[in-house]
Amino acid sequence: MSILITGGAGYIGSHTCVELIEAGKDIVVIDNYSNSCSESLERVKKITGKDFRYYECDIRDREGLEKVFAENEIEAVIHFAGLKAVGESCQKPWEYYDNNIAGTLVLVDVMRKNGCKKMVFSSSATVYGEENQVPFVETMKTGTTTNPYGTTKLYIENILKDIYNADNEWSIVLLRYFNPVGAHESGLIGEAPSFPNNLMPYVSQVAVGKREFLSIFGDCYNTPDGTGVRDYIHVVDLALGHVKAIDFALPRTGVEIFNLGTGNGVSVIGLVKAFEEANNVSVPYKIVEPRAGDVAYSYANAQKALEILGWKAERDVKKMCEDTWRWQKNNPNGYAN
Ligand code: NAD
Ligand code: UFG
Repeated sequence: MSILITGGAGYIGSHTCVELIEAGKDIVVIDNYSNSCSESLERVKKITGKDFRYYECDIRDREGLEKVFAENEIEAVIHFAGLKAVGESCQKPWEYYDNNIAGTLVLVDVMRKNGCKKMVFSSSATVYGEENQVPFVETMKTGTTTNPYGTTKLYIENILKDIYNADNEWSIVLLRYFNPVGAHESGLIGEAPSFPNNLMPYVSQVAVGKREFLSIFGDCYNTPDGTGVRDYIHVVDLALGHVKAIDFALPRTGVEIFNLGTGNGVSVIGLVKAFEEANNVSVPYKIVEPRAGDVAYSYANAQKALEILGWKAERDVKKMCEDTWRWQKNNPNGYAN
């Protein structure tokens, strides 16, 4: 029996493939390579020394999915596939709703027709919205999302809850990620955005000399140094959280939500300083206008994952910065070389 990883060639997916294989699981990957390439999967094979099947397949492609289910015995799905750029989602809402929501509906339909009713889904802390106060707890009512990307995550959570309510044979785990950063220690896989959306890729591109300076979006928030505070989590810790989540989902039915974060908040300037110190590099920055939709604080209450999954983030900010830098230095153009 295998675990199907949708979007497995992507940043979090590729790291999760490594940890699943290291934990002795059999995996099959599908990806349409809209934001990745198969080289990341070749590198997963290199790191683990294990072979596995992967398919170029879109989650909206019913026939393609049927073929994958026919050729493999899939017992559960970890569903990463999705578009994730907040800004782009405001320009292209139709594409985001179609890819993320319509795609999930096709996937769920093919799964149930094949008797596979176990799914771990990549949700986001963005579903807490602007109304809730940190630290965010899973029991809080979800908030108002501020962009179509966030709305797709909230809708998919609700869709999956309804799917379970109508058919109690499903086992669904909703993982709300905070801010994934870092890279595999080998320096072979990491985040390779064609255009960065998040803070850490910008920091490392400034450090490597690809960009002149970092723009910090506002220093007038009600935080200790005025810059936004986030819960940065090492992508390998996040990946290990998926191994725990799939082991939790397999023998059960129901819907369970877990925050995957460290529970610690770090400011933008705090992360820049940590990166400079950890790697002995300089990251010049300028303070610019705040970015629309940003909140002052976002960090997790990470207790539930500890108590129920036995999972806790172990890697500190220094390690996040060191591993990001190793990946960036070894692969200045991502997987392009
Ligand atoms: P990523 O873009 O690196 O990975 C997503 C993968 O899905 C890519 O390889 C892409 O090619 C693939 N994909 C997209 N649409 C597809 C489709 N229709 N069919 C098949 N494959 C498709 O992003 P990531 O950072 O690894 O994120 C993985 C998941 O986690 C996403 O669902 C994302 O929304 C969610 N998430 C990410 C973050 C973050 O900050 N990185 C935070 C919260 C949640
Ligand atoms: N920031 C800068 N300059 C940059 C980029 C970011 O100052 O060039 C700041 C932001 O203002 C924010 C912090 O760095 O204070 C983190 O920003 P990111 O864009 O890295 O991450 P966000 O917290 O805005 O968003 C992330 C994911 C979303 C997810 C959200 C959930 O990108 O997918 O967390 O909380 F929805």
